[in-house]
Amino acid sequence: MYKNLTKLTYESLQHSKNYFSLGHKLLSTQLKNVVYPTVGRVKPASPEAIAKLQNRLNLLIEADWQDSQKGIYPESVLFDNQWADFFVNYPLLWLDLPQVWERITQGRYQDFSSTTDQGGYPSYYLQNFHHQTDGYLSESSANLYDLQVELLFGGAADPMRRRILAPLKRGLQKFQGISQKQIRILDVACGTGRTLKLMRSAMPEASLFGTDLSPAYLRKANQILSENPGELPQLLQANAEELPYLDNYFHAVTSVFLCHELPAAVRQTVIEQCFRVTKPGGVFIICDSIQMSDSPEFAEMMNGFSKMFHEPYYKHYTTDDLVERLEKAGFENIETQIHFLSKYFIAYKPA
Ligand SMILES: C[S@@+](CC[C@H](N)C(=O)[O-])C[C@H]1O[C@@H](n2cnc3c(N)ncnc32)[C@H](O)[C@@H]1O
Repeated sequence: MYKNLTKLTYESLQHSKNYFSLGHKLLSTQLKNVVYPTVGRVKPASPEAIAKLQNRLNLLIEADWQDSQKGIYPESVLFDNQWADFFVNYPLLWLDLPQVWERITQGRYQDFSSTTDQGGYPSYYLQNFHHQTDGYLSESSANLYDLQVELLFGGAADPMRRRILAPLKRGLQKFQGISQKQIRILDVACGTGRTLKLMRSAMPEASLFGTDLSPAYLRKANQILSENPGELPQLLQANAEELPYLDNYFHAVTSVFLCHELPAAVRQTVIEQCFRVTKPGGVFIICDSIQMSDSPEFAEMMNGFSKMFHEPYYKHYTTDDLVERLEKAGFENIETQIHFLSKYFIAYKPA
C-alpha cells in the first residue's frame, strides 16, 4: 500500500512536470508569435509522434521507479527537486526571453556580452547553444541551465541521466576487490553537476571527479555538490580534448549530453581521451540524444531541433556512428540502450 502510494506520487510528480513544461512551451510560443511572428516557426509534431513520445516517457518513469526499487539508488532521489532554484530562476527565464528572440530574429548565434571572457576557448564552443544568453560563459546562464533542460525534456532530464547508474554500477562490479573509496569516476563535461549529484546518491563513497570547459558551470556544480555535507567536489576546468588526468586513472568515465555539441572530429578526439583515462576493464558510458537510425519516427523532431535550438553539430550527431567511433578508440563489448529521448552507449576498455 505504502509502495503503491509512493509510486503514484512519483508518477504524478513527473506527469505534472511534463504538463508544466508543455504549458510553458505553449505560452512562450504564443507570446513569441505575437511579438516576433517570423521567428523560428516549426511544424507541430504529429499526433502519432506525440503518442509515441508519451509512451516512451511512461516507460522511462517506470524504469526509473524500478531501478530505485532494485536499490540502484534510493527512492528519495526520485523526489530530489531544486524547488528554491525553480522559484528564483523561472521568472528570470521569462525576463531573458525577449533578448533571446531578438538574437534569433537578427541571426546572432555567437553573441556574448562585452564582459564575457572568450579567451582560450575553441571556436566551436563559442556559440549560444540553445540560444542561451552568453552561451556557457556566464553565471546567469549556469543558473538558468538546469531549468531550461527540465523544460525542454518535460521534467525527464534527471530520470534520463539516472539511466546511466545501473550500467555504471554493473560495469564497476569487476573492481569489487577494492574499497568503494578507491573507486574513481570521472564525469566529462559535467556542467552544473547534476549527474555527479545523482552518482553520489547511488555511490555514497566513490571518489567522484568532474571536468568542464565552463568556469561558471563548474562554480554552479561546486555549489550544488557542496550541499551534500562532507562533500569536497573534485572539479577541474579543462577541454575534454585534453583531459588533464593520468592514463588508466578512472574505473569509470561518463559523459552526458556532450557529444551532440561537438564537431565530428572533436567528438572522436574526446572519445579517445576518455579511452586513455579509463582503466583496463573500466567502463565508459555516453548518454546523449536519440539518433535517426534508432528513432526514425522522430526524424522531423530531430531535424527541427538543430535549427530551433541552435545546435550546429546536432544534425551530424544524429547520423553519426558512435559505436564505430568507440571501437576505433579501442573500446569493446559496446551495448546501446534507448530511454525516452536519450541514447546510451556502454563500452568497456579491454582488461
Ligand atoms: C549540454 S551541456 C551538458 C552538461 C551536463 N553534462 C548535463 O548533463 O546537463 C554540455 C556541456 O559540455 C561542456 N562542453 C562543451 N564542449 C566541451 C569541451 N570541449 N570540453 C569540456 N566541456 C565541454 C559545456 O560547457 C556544457 O557544460
